Amino acid sequence: MKLGTPLSDTAVRVMLLGSGELGKEVAIELQRLGVEVVAVDRYPNAPAMQVAHRSHVIPMTDPQVLNGLIMAEAPHIIVPEIEAIATEVLADIEAAGMARVIPTARAVQLTMNREGIRRLAAEELDLPTSPYAFAGSAQELAAGAETVGYPCFVKPVMSSSGKGQSFVESPDEIADAWTYAQDSGRVAGARVIVEGRIDFDFEITLLTVRSRAADGSTATSFCAPIGHRQVKGDYVESWQPQAMSPAALAASQDIAGKVTEALGGLGVFGVELFVKGDQVWFSEVSPRPHDTGLVTLASQTMSEFALHARAILGLPVDVTQREPAASAVIYGGLEAQGIAFEGIADALSVPTADLRLFGKPEAYERRRMGVATARGADVDEARDRAREAAGCVKVVRR
Ligand SMILES: Nc1ncnc2c1ncn2[C@@H]1O[C@H](COP(=O)(O)OP(=O)(O)OP(=O)(O)O)[C@@H](O)[C@H]1O
Ligand SMILES: [Mg+2]
Repeated sequence: MKLGTPLSDTAVRVMLLGSGELGKEVAIELQRLGVEVVAVDRYPNAPAMQVAHRSHVIPMTDPQVLNGLIMAEAPHIIVPEIEAIATEVLADIEAAGMARVIPTARAVQLTMNREGIRRLAAEELDLPTSPYAFAGSAQELAAGAETVGYPCFVKPVMSSSGKGQSFVESPDEIADAWTYAQDSGRVAGARVIVEGRIDFDFEITLLTVRSRAADGSTATSFCAPIGHRQVKGDYVESWQPQAMSPAALAASQDIAGKVTEALGGLGVFGVELFVKGDQVWFSEVSPRPHDTGLVTLASQTMSEFALHARAILGLPVDVTQREPAASAVIYGGLEAQGIAFEGIADALSVPTADLRLFGKPEAYERRRMGVATARGADVDEARDRAREAAGCVKVVRR
């Protein structure tokens, strides 16, 4: 593939659907290669818009509006960053050969719905997963919970970042879990998945990159495993590498290789896995850089964002990890527009610490506003430093 000059006839145009902090880093990496970047989201001044050539504010779930914008911008490559997109439009665009969808329209469609990806992984690919059932009513949910066993997790099939999820320990909590899933799911009358709890030692994200090899075939590369800690379905810290047995690592790569092969296309995938001893279960996969992978900004020769940019352009990648590193999330902690960050100098005085402040126009309590990263002689030192740096940063009204 040739690269051109942005804003000219030779430009390679990439459209980001979703312009959050992950898209912002991808946009920066594309900008470095002279790619023309068009950022799209449903609110103005989203992080990636601030580093793009152009931006558009549209409801991305509206097929007509989305299709109209794609026609007007005529991107060569479309990069979905979030799940709430009218994906049928992407399938049509791809089928008509008007743009490449990353990684593929089918992959985006399958992974936006827990039912699609779970059935593919467990029933077609025969990968180990938690026991599960799907339900379209409170009664079906109660029956499903009996088959998977208590305790279990209830999740809307169309949701992310822990929205609408419940941890259910007994049958008398089922009605509440159903109502909660309905209230917070992306669509009304939403189906849910109920999953038996896996009693794991730790969970990892295995960043898996599908890139073009010199002979034109697709190469699969694995980054070092990323460990992370989740609170209410949202990651609070991550580190790389997560220590694990050679057998568990081999099983993880085997699962990630199979699921990404089935999804196809080019780019970074975040494969979420549960690990207990040598045993590994597939949980879910993002067909794009993963939030826990923010740690790769500090740990790897090429961050997951640089890897994604290179891979989607058909260029070679290097997944080498340089040093143990960690990331710690900085939350809003309050509701306000145009907030300020205090304690930056203190945070950056922590050895090896670095910050990404996302520039989100509005803060709220549990919104991720920034991240601290740090390196260390080992993961423990890196985690201590990242947490200390993040702890120095205070979000204030002005
Ligand atoms: N079956 C399970 N057994 C044990 N823990 C689970 C199970 N399902 C979910 N969890 C816990 O809840 C977290 C969030 O679940 P999951 O990844 O399915 O939801 P999500 O909304 O997609 O979250 P995110 O968007 O942050 O990845 C997991 O990372 C894990 O810590
Ligand atoms: Mg997840």
